[in-house]
Amino acid sequence: MAERIRVMLTEEEVDTRIKEIGEQISRDYAGRQVHLVCVLKGGSFFMCELAKRITVPVSLDFMSVSSYGSNTKSSGVVKIVKDLDEPLKDKDVIVVEDIVDSGRTLSYLLELLGQRGPGSMKLCTLLDKPERRVVDVKVDYTGFEIPDEFVVGYGLDYDQRYRNLPYIGVVELD
Ligand code: IMP
Ligand code: MG
Repeated sequence: MAERIRVMLTEEEVDTRIKEIGEQISRDYAGRQVHLVCVLKGGSFFMCELAKRITVPVSLDFMSVSSYGSNTKSSGVVKIVKDLDEPLKDKDVIVVEDIVDSGRTLSYLLELLGQRGPGSMKLCTLLDKPERRVVDVKVDYTGFEIPDEFVVGYGLDYDQRYRNLPYIGVVELD
């Protein structure tokens, strides 16, 4: 089966929006340092671009999680495959994600990270599919709200491919 990628958000649209979020975060955190926590692998492209646009001091950390079981409609309970290198205690944390879909993974993860005593914790996602929400998650910074379509690019994969696309696209099978 051949696959085609239909562009949903161009490289320019994505870059412009990331710049805007970076400026907003820089204003909101004026005089403070932000600690960006990236959820691998999807959040990595977004976090790097975002970090470059933030003008207050930034530190970065990464974690990797996997869902229990193979069911795609997981409970959201995740196993930490790679934990953060540094404690979150008293830090102004922003969790950076590629997409919020059902919200299951993130609500579990935010609960888990919240127990580590950050000074504050916010959530920043490049994409949000509000129609798909099952668990309520408070998103503080959103790049784009998108319709319920499966998207790739800018860190998002389809079977581990297309993460490197510099835009957001929809996989079409024909
Ligand atoms: P949820 O919010 O717990 O349902 O899970 C979100 C995770 O599912 C994201 O972090 C992505 O890894 C993955 N995901 C959800 N929607 C898409 C999509 O449209 N394309 C690629 N991955 C997706
Ligand atoms: Mg993800």
